[in-house]
Amino acid sequence: MKAIVIRQYGSKEVLELAEVPDPEPEDDELLVRIHAFAINPIDWKIRKGVARWFMRKKFPIILGQDFSGEVVSVGSQVGDYEIGDRVFGAVSSLRGEGTYAELIAVPAKNVATLPNNMSFLEAAAIPTAGLTALVALRDMGGLQTGMDVLINGAAGGVGHYAVQIAKFLGAYVTAIAGPDNQDFVTDLGADEAIDYTQADYTKLPSRYDVIFDTIGNRHFRESIPVLQPRGIFISTMPSPSQYLQMALTRFSRKKSKTFLLQVEEDDLWDLKKMAEADQLRSHVEHIFSLEQIAEAQALSESHHLRGKIVIQMPTP
Ligand SMILES: NC(=O)c1ccc[n+]([C@@H]2O[C@H](COP(=O)([O-])OP(=O)(O)OC[C@H]3O[C@@H](n4cnc5c(N)ncnc54)[C@H](OP(=O)(O)O)[C@@H]3O)[C@@H](O)[C@H]2O)c1
Repeated sequence: MKAIVIRQYGSKEVLELAEVPDPEPEDDELLVRIHAFAINPIDWKIRKGVARWFMRKKFPIILGQDFSGEVVSVGSQVGDYEIGDRVFGAVSSLRGEGTYAELIAVPAKNVATLPNNMSFLEAAAIPTAGLTALVALRDMGGLQTGMDVLINGAAGGVGHYAVQIAKFLGAYVTAIAGPDNQDFVTDLGADEAIDYTQADYTKLPSRYDVIFDTIGNRHFRESIPVLQPRGIFISTMPSPSQYLQMALTRFSRKKSKTFLLQVEEDDLWDLKKMAEADQLRSHVEHIFSLEQIAEAQALSESHHLRGKIVIQMPTP
């Protein structure tokens, strides 16, 4: 099959379109022909070597976490799927055999069937960013009807799902985004939009039950004054200092938490149901081909992305 591989860590020049052996699925896995996959910041972070100590496979590494596609074979221990089913899902890119490829062997628990009102492109955008937003807000933040949530980085991949999921959970949503994305986050359902070039949320009089920092440029300590007495600050940027902060606030009223993605089947199905109930949509800002992978990653690295970038695979 064709895949984008890296044979060393480095700049986007190490991305190589190559012919590699087809994956061989285990008994509990599906083999899926990929129709589309999304770009996530973790992809180019792995390319640069930031997670090199945690990689489970040596070079060549195939990058990528998210995909949508069609089932082409079903393992003997997999009950609920048939050849031809349209699915979407995610694998951990740390395993080094990712979704920047024509085929992926994936455990059935990492997959759900495609939302019936979404294209392959729209569904491929969801898994990493959507699961992050859902689990951080609903499970870590305990977000419920009537609560106030602030979402930093609200126009990005994680952020644009977070705004919609927070509204779905019944919260009052304040979205932080740049000047060009104020209307975008309001259209997604945000009750208020704050332009970070004009105002610093930590200096404003509002108080939040949950602050979700999707981009990792704010700290728990500076957010303390704008958290409710039992408020929770959630960051998507795991680091030793974040984990220390999390441990230090374990028994305090205001808490700092750090999110780390684990793909759970039930959560994927929850996102599918939200999409089918028209409560969740994907904003795919850019569509590229496999050959344009370097351009797609460069755009993701710009840090000013609206919604998602998706790669469309050629129809076989
Ligand atoms: N821990 C985990 O398991 C996990 C899971 C998912 C994601 N993440 C991490 O979360 C981060 C975000 O991911 P993503 O996919 O959402 O990235 P993304 O799509 O690239 O989002 C970038 C967003 O950041 C906004 N932004 C840039 N500067 C800003 C500022 N000063 N203040 C507020 N917003 C600003 C941009 O909005 P404007 O254009 O309006 O500036 C853009 O929409 C990445 O570092 C990713 O690796 C971690």
